[in-house]
Amino acid sequence: ADEQAQARILAAREKLGKRAVILGHHYQREDVYRHADLTGDSLKLSRLASQTDAEYIVFCGVHFMAEVADIMSKPEQIAILPDLAAGCSMADMANLAKVERCWRELRGLLGGDPDNTFTPVTYINSAADLKAFCGEHGGIVCTSSNCGSILEWSLARREKVLFFPDQHLGRWTGYNMGIPLEDMLVWDPDLENGGLTAEQVAKAKILLWKGHCSVHQMFQPSHILRWRNQNPDGIVISHPESAFEVCRQSDFVGSTEYILKTVKAAAPGTKWLVGTELNLVNRLAEEVKHEGKTVQFMAPTVCMCSTMQRIDPQHLAWTLENLVEGNVVNRISVPAHEAGPAKLAMDRMLAASP
Ligand code: 13P
Ligand code: SF4
Repeated sequence: ADEQAQARILAAREKLGKRAVILGHHYQREDVYRHADLTGDSLKLSRLASQTDAEYIVFCGVHFMAEVADIMSKPEQIAILPDLAAGCSMADMANLAKVERCWRELRGLLGGDPDNTFTPVTYINSAADLKAFCGEHGGIVCTSSNCGSILEWSLARREKVLFFPDQHLGRWTGYNMGIPLEDMLVWDPDLENGGLTAEQVAKAKILLWKGHCSVHQMFQPSHILRWRNQNPDGIVISHPESAFEVCRQSDFVGSTEYILKTVKAAAPGTKWLVGTELNLVNRLAEEVKHEGKTVQFMAPTVCMCSTMQRIDPQHLAWTLENLVEGNVVNRISVPAHEAGPAKLAMDRMLAASP
């Protein structure tokens, strides 16, 4: 069935020609990734989505990425997600109702408008209406590639930052900017006032939303320790969605694109332990093994992003064949009232990114 799906994809692509472009995130499974015209991390893919002229942007990734493609592309271009069930569990940990409630509670805690004190910063792993919230409140979007520059931009404008939904990316980035850990407090959206007092909010520099990635939370400092004991000359590289201690014990920390570039550019014969999604790690191991480099996955258990994994050859084939027939299936369309302010927050990010 898999071979059949591969053949169907190739046949449909041939018929569509340049009318469709396939974008693929690095976490996509191999049998889908090989069909991507363009690949990248979230930042690179959002730039590519704004630059393509194709009629259809078929996004092999997760829901928020296809939303970004829709927001950043021209109105006549159509963004498509081959399986609508491909969400992001981290993105789902924040929603507009909870963020608006947080803003209201901050107003009470501060005794004034949070717009004067807090820049809201949303990780790109979030729904379009949260990007719109940031656009409307002087805030901005960030990705794992540019989070440092974005937090600097944000703190140059207002005294404090509300960072959602990934506490780990926020904490790691703030720490690298020299912000003391005790000045970065967790805002728990399920507790009244986030579980914080007015004094704590007054002292904090960054409020970190209590959200995380279920894939990256599997990595543990003990995995690094054990591997280092066996490989004293080995090098450890992790994604910043990993827990703070994992990042601290890594030699390098960065986005999926950064991890690929760093390991590919490393000296022949080097040994790597990599803390990010398994599909990327397996592909990287395969690509560099001829140089005598070894690449090992950080966790002892298999951990893939199960929602990224939902984009399979069958769904991709079905989507493309429908396009050939003139049927648009699984279109992702962000309503104009959200797309406008969300684009504003995205454009601020692109302008502030190195
Ligand atoms: P990147 O921005 O590094 O591609 O990460 C996106 C993501 O979802 C990681 O879990
Ligand atoms: Fe979301 Fe984590 Fe999957 Fe990335 S790896 S898409 S953050 S669930």
